Amino acid sequence: MLTPRQSLANMLPLSLLATILALASLAHGGSNGLGQTPQMGWSTWNAYGCEIDADIIIESAKQLADQMKPFGYEYLNIDDCWQAAERNAQGVLEANKTRFPDGLKAVVDQIHDLGLKAGIYSSAGTMTCGRKIGSLDHEETDAQSWADAGFDYLKYDNCFAQGRSGTPQFSYDRYNKMATALNNTGRPIFYSLCNWGEDGPWNFASTIANSWRISGDITNSFNREDDRCPCTSVVEGDCNTQGYHCSVEKIANFAAPLGQKAAPGGWNDLDSLEVGVSVGEGLTLDESVTHFTLWSMMKSPLIQGPVFADLSSQDRAVLTNEHVIAINQDPGSTPAIRLQSGKQQVWQSTLSNDSYAVALVNFGESKWDVELPLSEVFFDDRKLAKASWTAYDLWSDTDFQNPPRKPGQSKLQGMSVQGKLPRVELNPHQTRVWKLTPKKHDEL
Ligand SMILES: *[C@@H]1O[C@H](CO)[C@@H](O)[C@H](O)[C@H]1NC(C)=O
Ligand SMILES: *[C@@H]1O[C@H](CO)[C@@H](O)[C@H](O)[C@H]1NC(C)=O
Ligand SMILES: *[C@@H]1O[C@H](CO)[C@@H](O)[C@H](O)[C@H]1NC(C)=O
Repeated sequence: MLTPRQSLANMLPLSLLATILALASLAHGGSNGLGQTPQMGWSTWNAYGCEIDADIIIESAKQLADQMKPFGYEYLNIDDCWQAAERNAQGVLEANKTRFPDGLKAVVDQIHDLGLKAGIYSSAGTMTCGRKIGSLDHEETDAQSWADAGFDYLKYDNCFAQGRSGTPQFSYDRYNKMATALNNTGRPIFYSLCNWGEDGPWNFASTIANSWRISGDITNSFNREDDRCPCTSVVEGDCNTQGYHCSVEKIANFAAPLGQKAAPGGWNDLDSLEVGVSVGEGLTLDESVTHFTLWSMMKSPLIQGPVFADLSSQDRAVLTNEHVIAINQDPGSTPAIRLQSGKQQVWQSTLSNDSYAVALVNFGESKWDVELPLSEVFFDDRKLAKASWTAYDLWSDTDFQNPPRKPGQSKLQGMSVQGKLPRVELNPHQTRVWKLTPKKHDEL
């Protein structure tokens, strides 16, 4: 089978192909070997914002290791506001001594001792978004100090960029400086590029980064329209104000055409998960399930952000649905494609072992009664449409009151389907997702 990049190569004119191959030979992020599946972890930002310190981070790391690591969440990412007020005499950016009395390395060592990996944050600007010191034009020094402290991951933001954007080349050059600096440290450091989708990073970042944000920041709302997130599409060339306060529904719609741009080593980042986050409007259970299912199927990074002490069983159950996580982490799965848009959506992912995931998503405000023919799921393959399948309803066995502490305890019952999916009635904002595995391979 062709990988997405090989099949792309088959379709491109030779001159363009030569350019792409030339770019690929300069690859760093894509060639650090990381991100073969989307990254999973937890970030300080949604839980604590700028109010972080070593104690909060170590306590959160213990909870992450205990509650979430068994399900695959491995990165403990320190977001903004760790920095000292000034660079030191050698130009090195150290941690705020009040917040990190023993420095960053001591914290990273404890994170590693818990079996986790450690992430750090900066901006490709003179200042970060929280108005701390940024890394623009200090890439080599900062990358080296993070490598020395043992970091495994960098989220690299886009505030105070000094106007060095506006064309893919400007943005590429600014972000590539950090890719090169990270590579030069010799330490494999996951590179999470966060330029909010400016200049279409899905077209320029795959050779340098392991993931790239596609839009302005997510907010903790399912569908609230907000003028601070003004774009209607991120691919039409008219999105000059990426903004922030983008809802779950809006980002899902932004991401729909971009699946073809992601592949092992470089992923579309739909931004962090709002499940269990207390700041903001909040999500209902159906909305959390929809959010988590779509992010998983689109192979977005799964970076969560609750205060663990406040996390409800219900939200923990959503974040630890091993069957949905398995779609996201399947080494052979492809980012979902959307087969039906509008308020009642149908999404399909190709999985390993000739299997598929199919989601029905009701963004509407009334119930959706639906019995979907498989000819619509497999509209371009009549054999698949006619084949017989075992269908597993991936949320049917979830115990929202007492979610399991470890994977392997939830056992789904499959049902035979042929010709159509089971008839379901979806509540407003609800999602149902099935995994389809072939019953007879000779039918395919
Ligand atoms: C640096 O880049 C080279 C070639 O692009 C790659 O082979 C190597 O693994 C990279 N090293 C790190 C530490 O990312
Ligand atoms: C360092 O931390 C202290 C204590 O939280 C805080 O008051 C101060 O503003 C921080 N400095 C910077 C530059 O963030
Ligand atoms: C595919 O099938 C093989 C053999 O049964 C199994 O070991 C593997 O885990 C399956 N892969 C996925 C991603 O489910």
